[in-house]
Amino acid sequence: MSLLEEADETTDALPAVPAGASDDDALLEVRSVRSGYGNLPVLHGVDLAIRRGQTAVLLGLNGAGKTTTAQNICGSLRTWSGTIAFDGQDTTHWSTKRCVDAGIVMVPEGRRVFPELNVAKNLQVGAWSQRRDRAWVDEQLEQVLDYFPRLRERLGQLAGTLSGGEQQMLAIARGLMARPRLLIIDEASMGLAPVIVKDVFDIVRRINADGVTVLLIEQNVGALEVADVGLVMERGRVVRALTGDELRDRTAVSEALMG
Ligand SMILES: Nc1ncnc2c1ncn2[C@@H]1O[C@H](COP(=O)(O)OP(=O)(O)OP(=O)(O)O)[C@@H](O)[C@H]1O
Ligand SMILES: [Mg+2]
Repeated sequence: MSLLEEADETTDALPAVPAGASDDDALLEVRSVRSGYGNLPVLHGVDLAIRRGQTAVLLGLNGAGKTTTAQNICGSLRTWSGTIAFDGQDTTHWSTKRCVDAGIVMVPEGRRVFPELNVAKNLQVGAWSQRRDRAWVDEQLEQVLDYFPRLRERLGQLAGTLSGGEQQMLAIARGLMARPRLLIIDEASMGLAPVIVKDVFDIVRRINADGVTVLLIEQNVGALEVADVGLVMERGRVVRALTGDELRDRTAVSEALMG
């Protein structure tokens, strides 16, 4: 038997690729992640994959573990077991700074801006790791302000005096200043009027069209309108992935959310 034939035989003998196994197109791949706070477990084996260029929406009721999942992905909470891979690299135990440098950027819940700093300074903070490269920061600022004309008009205004919607825009804009490859936005729509929510989702759509992969964490099922994939989280696990027609099917979505 030739070596090639032998190799073929060996390949045939391998088991079929298991469901949920490595996805070559995945930019982010989370496998069997367990994590929690102190010794309280919250994530009981989270599995999810987001492909390059997708917008994914992570849905789930209060306390399902959405924010905890995001914190594991961006390096701000220790992963107890399981793996996280970003662009083919094992990032499971990377620091937040290393994750940001690799392009994983999170806009946290509660639109945390620096109220005592003006809009321009808040944006500069987002480009902290590039701060010595003035040209880089200016170019990035120009690009980011293209998405947010309202912020351009308010560069000198103290962030604490912006409206809720404007503060959310600023929080997203600050995240974009780091030039993310994966932008995670935690509950962007919370507490905003529907018309502002629509603006936020429209901007997310543009950001995504410009090549940034997006993970939206939402309780607002309206976010599914911008989604390529909807991931339903329940008690520390992703229990369903909705794609295609399922995403626009409100009944399917409600059923998935209610278990
Ligand atoms: N810092 C913390 N210390 C202890 N427990 C925490 C902490 N943060 C979250 N938890 C607990 O972890 C569980 C999951 O919380 P998490 O914030 O991930 O949920 P979520 O899906 O983001 O919910 P929400 O939609 O309300 O933001 C909850 O039971 C919560 O009480
Ligand atoms: Mg949360």
